[in-house]
Amino acid sequence: MNTLSIVGLQFGDEGKGKITDSLSHQFDYVVRYQGGHNAGHTVYANGQKYVLHVLPTGIVHPHTINVLGTGMVISLDALQKELQGFNVSQLRISDRAHLLFPFHQQLDAQSEQTTTQKIGTTQKGIGPAYQTKTSRIGIRVGSLKDLSRLKLELKQLVSSLGVTFDGDAYVEQMKEFIAKIVPFITDTSYEIYQAYQQKKRILFEGAQGVMLDLDHGTYPYVTSSHPTPSSIPVDIGLPPSYIQEALGIVKAYTTRVGEGPFPTEIFGEEAEKIRKTGNEYGSTTGRPRRIGHLDAVMLQHAIRMTGVNQIAITLLDVLSMVDTIKICVAYELNGQRTQLVPSHASDVAKLKPIYETLPGWKVPIQDCKSFMELPKEAKTYLHRIQSLLGVPIRFISNGPKREQLIERTHHHD
Ligand code: IMP
Repeated sequence: MNTLSIVGLQFGDEGKGKITDSLSHQFDYVVRYQGGHNAGHTVYANGQKYVLHVLPTGIVHPHTINVLGTGMVISLDALQKELQGFNVSQLRISDRAHLLFPFHQQLDAQSEQTTTQKIGTTQKGIGPAYQTKTSRIGIRVGSLKDLSRLKLELKQLVSSLGVTFDGDAYVEQMKEFIAKIVPFITDTSYEIYQAYQQKKRILFEGAQGVMLDLDHGTYPYVTSSHPTPSSIPVDIGLPPSYIQEALGIVKAYTTRVGEGPFPTEIFGEEAEKIRKTGNEYGSTTGRPRRIGHLDAVMLQHAIRMTGVNQIAITLLDVLSMVDTIKICVAYELNGQRTQLVPSHASDVAKLKPIYETLPGWKVPIQDCKSFMELPKEAKTYLHRIQSLLGVPIRFISNGPKREQLIERTHHHD
């Protein structure tokens, strides 16, 4: 296995940061391929907590090369802030990735305030930056190599978008930082291709989750990229055959931030207890996350299109305090039972979940070191998830610390 992709199978915030972090030391390259600084990956390293938004989590390991791939939209301001304390020579930035400017962020905030259909975005400018890209008026990272050309392109972009922005002043203000990163701007498709040929180990780090995918999520309440391994070949510029293994990350319950339908959402005391125990507040925006039961139908939808061949269950310890655990195994829509996620958000909002109820375990599990040590009820829950999803559970995260991660070495336990 030379390549592995890690993908969130729900609405983001599945705990990808922790899993990526615990695996990334085994890899030579850690590669982000979509999104931008809307992501928030929490990792613990060198006795410190880092919340990374734009940098791949491998940046905390001095031996890894960290790539910002072509499919990303990159804010220089966010990158500058986050790179402090890290070694820029560990970074490679695609010359074809698009730049996200402060006016994209303003446009995002404005559209959230004025449109009738509020998405609840992170207001980082992600949607507007992708709009600029697909309208073919965007500015790519490679333009940073020639500042007078960059200034000219910025003038044209600002005038096309009809925004007020002093591009010249911005470039002057960022000049020093641009000079620092320019040596690391490169054709990352070629670099990763070569690394692959040299049998280097490459980890593709997904941001957000499949249910936020622009096409396969709950449109329009989605992000503007494709957080699925199928987009890696396009987003990086690689043959599809290079993407061999995919590890799907599944939180033991469901959370969502922002607007949009959420069939298994719960409210009141139970939701509040889970939110508090699981520290379910957005790592990018600090917003309280919405809480719900595990939704096996959405997970089946996500697994079908990603082809993940192993999964990690995260935050299992948070469920130690609930009496019973519900899993949504099918939906009812207009009186009909269905196993499919409808395409229209208003139909998703109408879904009535059909639940299976399992007993809780009601004891702390953060000290368990193996699957065998878990309480019987927790094992039953995990076995049921595995049989509903048809994919082996390889990791179980039972606490926030790095060592609170159980790896299952065989799947018959
Ligand atoms: P945007 O990506 O900022 O445009 O936001 C679109 C939707 O995706 C909103 O519902 C956000 O809350 C959600 N979203 C974006 N990034 C993340 C993330 O990293 N975790 C969870 N939700 C996210």
